[in-house]
Amino acid sequence: MFARAVRPTVSLARSLSTTAQNNAKVAVLGASGGIGQPLSLLLKNSPLVSQLSLYDIAHTPGVAADLSHIETRAQVTGYMGADQLDAALQGCDVVVIPAGVPRKPGMTRDDLFNTNATIVATLADAVARNCPEAMICVIANPVNSTIPITSEVMKKYGVYNPNKVFGVTTLDIVRANGLCIIFSNLPLHCTDYCTDLLYILRMSNLKQSRIFM
Ligand SMILES: NC(=O)c1ccc[n+]([C@@H]2O[C@H](COP(=O)([O-])OP(=O)(O)OC[C@H]3O[C@@H](n4cnc5c(N)ncnc54)[C@H](O)[C@@H]3O)[C@@H](O)[C@H]2O)c1
Repeated sequence: MFARAVRPTVSLARSLSTTAQNNAKVAVLGASGGIGQPLSLLLKNSPLVSQLSLYDIAHTPGVAADLSHIETRAQVTGYMGADQLDAALQGCDVVVIPAGVPRKPGMTRDDLFNTNATIVATLADAVARNCPEAMICVIANPVNSTIPITSEVMKKYGVYNPNKVFGVTTLDIVRANGLCIIFSNLPLHCTDYCTDLLYILRMSNLKQSRIFM
């Protein structure tokens, strides 16, 4: 009960903070997609974000307009089409890249390589030119390939910082946790979920075909 009453005050105090840490400009490249839209919504609700730059090749004006109605302080701007990409990235501290095609039934993540490699390389090129200091979080699959591509593009421009290029694997982690919960009644601890997962899979004698991550 008290937590509910207190939360708005805390949230407002955080929103009014002007420290650099709470003033991030974040760009989402691929903001109109299945991942991009809910991700942008979460970012709009974050007190750490002061500017939210939404870029896609389609639908971003509408997505940006919808999000801008939420009463949090992040200012939302939509950019659509390749000629607006540079503007979307100006001054960004964090760039998140969910742009690309997702898997269709029967496809592996590697099947996405041809399409998504080109998309991510083009976007990374724009990041290197417009906000080379930004942290880059790559979501587009196959992450094992899109991360090296991003790194190589940054190297080409002489702005590569290995501490600022990240591959997002949260989906795999929550799926692994979910599998563990489904296939066992053992309590899970997030900090050592990997050990738990291996133990549970060994103990429950799962067939390979039932693991669909
Ligand atoms: N790393 C992870 O944990 C994880 C989780 C889920 C999805 N993914 C990956 O994220 C990607 C996106 O998935 P989705 O479900 O949002 O797909 P989606 O098709 O719903 O959305 C993709 C978006 O990217 C945009 N896009 C395409 N080409 C673009 C370009 N050149 N520049 C800017 N935007 C462009 C599309 O217009 C679309 O809005 C896929 O590659 C998927 O495999 C990764």
